[in-house]
Order: sequence, then structure tokens, then C-alpha cells
Amino acid sequence: MAKTAERLQQLGSGIFSELDELRKQKEQEGIKTINLSIGSPDLAPADHIKKALQAEVDSSENYGYPLTNGMPEFREAVAEWYEKRFQVPLNPKTEVLPVMGSQDGLGHLGLAYLNPGDIALVPDPGYPVYTASVLLANGVKYPLPLTADNKFLPDLKAIPKEIAQKAKLMFLNYPNNPVAAVADMEFFAEAVAFAKENHIVLCHDLAYSELAYDGYRPPSILEVPGAKDVAIEFHSFSKTFCMAGCRLGFVVGNQEIIAGLTIVKSNIDFGVYKPIQKAGIAALTGPDDWVRENAAIYQHRRDILVDGLNSLGWQVEKPKASMFVWAPLPWGYQSSREFALDLLDKAGVVVVPGIAFGEQGDGYVRMALVGEDRLLEEAVERIGKAFASYIS
Ligand SMILES: Cc1ncc(COP(=O)(O)O)c(C=O)c1O
Repeated sequence: MAKTAERLQQLGSGIFSELDELRKQKEQEGIKTINLSIGSPDLAPADHIKKALQAEVDSSENYGYPLTNGMPEFREAVAEWYEKRFQVPLNPKTEVLPVMGSQDGLGHLGLAYLNPGDIALVPDPGYPVYTASVLLANGVKYPLPLTADNKFLPDLKAIPKEIAQKAKLMFLNYPNNPVAAVADMEFFAEAVAFAKENHIVLCHDLAYSELAYDGYRPPSILEVPGAKDVAIEFHSFSKTFCMAGCRLGFVVGNQEIIAGLTIVKSNIDFGVYKPIQKAGIAALTGPDDWVRENAAIYQHRRDILVDGLNSLGWQVEKPKASMFVWAPLPWGYQSSREFALDLLDKAGVVVVPGIAFGEQGDGYVRMALVGEDRLLEEAVERIGKAFASYIS
């Protein structure tokens, strides 16, 4: 049997399998684990979305190949939603592309812009698909550290000039997964200016635009005047509309970048199943109070988890947005792997060690706000009991 390509060895993280093995072992021992590791939304989409999907599945017309660049009605619904939400006008013909979940578009973007050896700027810690996108295209990742000292924003001024000039692609993501930080317009303006100066394709991942708390409304990078000259932005139906299994997202912004990505995708897939695009239209054009109600559910969960952990003396900040809590290692722990394994072993609570998202993540663990209030309360209780000797 031929060996798999070397690039596959660079993908993925062994830590996930290690944690999964331990989780299975615990379950076999009869310990019911609480899994806060996966950011998969556990709430259901609204009825009007499910109904739209049901109706379209029944129509025989919807079983031909869809177009890679999507149904015109879908692209128009995106442009309308975008204008309403961010006051950014988009040309639905050239500046909008549906994707099979934003993962699809993000993962294939490297193939459109990187030649082997080309540099891409990638946040560290960061959502893993950015690194995968670079490595699958045989590009070279230059990590942008996200540290608490700089409010988890990359310090663009610290990037050496020769790296900035050589870089072709930069990924940003606010509200951020895993660090749960947000960015303001001032930072976005700086990022756009940096990308313009260095001729870099700027890719902003806005998967968590609607999961924000305490009245905060995350901005779009395309609100920066002139951003469309260099930037594209990804959105996901997975989090905003609880449609993760439908695999639907879209990318908007610079039409040349979108055209490049469309070429890659048209060689790989034939676009999104039409009933799913129609369900997407129903989501974008239908009532949206339920989206805010869902955000309120996540906000309440955030409060239970963060207030609970703080009451144990584990100092954790409340995120303004995203579905995660990025918690610094408590009680003298130095390694996120060691702490996550101990948390699972002693308390049966599964979290992701920060090192899984990059070297700079090692001082933290990521907890997803998935699970009902009672489950999160139980997680806090269990952690309190398991680490009682540390808590005064
Ligand atoms: C920051 C970020 N981007 C993209 C994705 C992928 O989303 P989708 O389901 O649209 O592929 C996720 C999923 O967790 C995410 O956290």
C-alpha cells in the first residue's frame, strides 16, 4: 500500500484521540462524562426553517446538480441580510458565494491563493481549519500569537517586514474560537490597512456574529471603508441558525477572491443541495427574534459556568460573544494537556486543552457552552469536589 502524503501527518492533533480514549475508558467504568469539548450547537432551528426544508425535499425539481455559485435567490437573500445587519451593500452576483459550511470555503481558500512555500498569517491559538487550509496547499504558516496582554488581538506591528511583504493570506476570526475575544472597528481598520499595504488577502471568519451577549453586536470587517478591496468574510448557518448538520455558510466581499475560490470549488463540488439553500433563505428572511432568544440561552449558560468557576476560585472572564469560555489554567497547572486529562480523570468533565489550537494556547483550556443549565451546574459541582484540596 502506498503511503499517505506527508502533509497529512501535519494535520490534526493527537490530543483529541488521547482525550477520547480516556473518555471512553471512564464511560466503561460507569462514569457519565460531561462533554464540553465540542462546539456543536445543541439547540434546534426554528420551525419555519424546518418547514421550508421539508417542502423543498418533496419537490422533484430539486434533485439536479446545483450551481457552484448558488441559487440567485440565495445570493440575494444573503445580500439583503448583510445590508440589514451590517449596512454593507453587496453585489449578489459577484460578491456572494454559498459554501458547504464555512469550513468548506475556509479549508479550500489556501488552494486558491497559495503556491507551495507561500506564507500565510494564522492566529495562534486558532480554529484548526486555517492551518489545514495552508498545509493542504503546501503553504507555510506564520503564527500570529494571540495573548491576553494584547487583548487576544494579533500585534500586526510585530510582524517582521519581510514576512509581511511575502505573506499572501491572513486569517482573522472575531468573535474568536477558541479564545472567545472580540475585536473593534479600530483593529479591523488596522488589519485592512496592513493587508492593503502588503497586498495580502484578508480572510475574516465571522461564524459567531449572532452569538453575542449583554447587548454587544459584533461588527463585520467589511464595515471598514475600502475593506472590500482586500477582504472576504465567512458566515455560518451552523451557529446563527442552529443548522450545523445542513452544512451551509457563505462568503462575501472582494469579488476576485470569491471568483478564485469559486474556481477551486467548481473543480471539487457542485454546490449546495437546493432545499438546503432554500432553508437558508427561510432562515435569512424569516423572523429573527428566536436567534436573539438563543443568544440569551447561551448567555445564561455562560453566567452559570463562569460564575460557578469563579466561586471555586478559578478566575475566568465572561466572554462578550462566541459559544466558548477560554479559561486560564487554575491551581498551579502549567500544561493544558495535563490539566485537561486530570479534569476528565478526576471530575469526568471533557474540555479541550489550549495546546490543541496552537502553542500559545497552552496556558488555557476551552469549554463549550453546549449543554443545558443543569449539566453546566453539575460540571461546576464536580470540579469543585474533585479539586476541593486546592480550594480554600
Ligand atoms: C470559528 C469557526 N469558523 C468556522 C467554523 C465552521 O463552521 P461551519 O459549520 O459553517 O463549517 C467553526 C465551527 O465550529 C468555527 O468555530
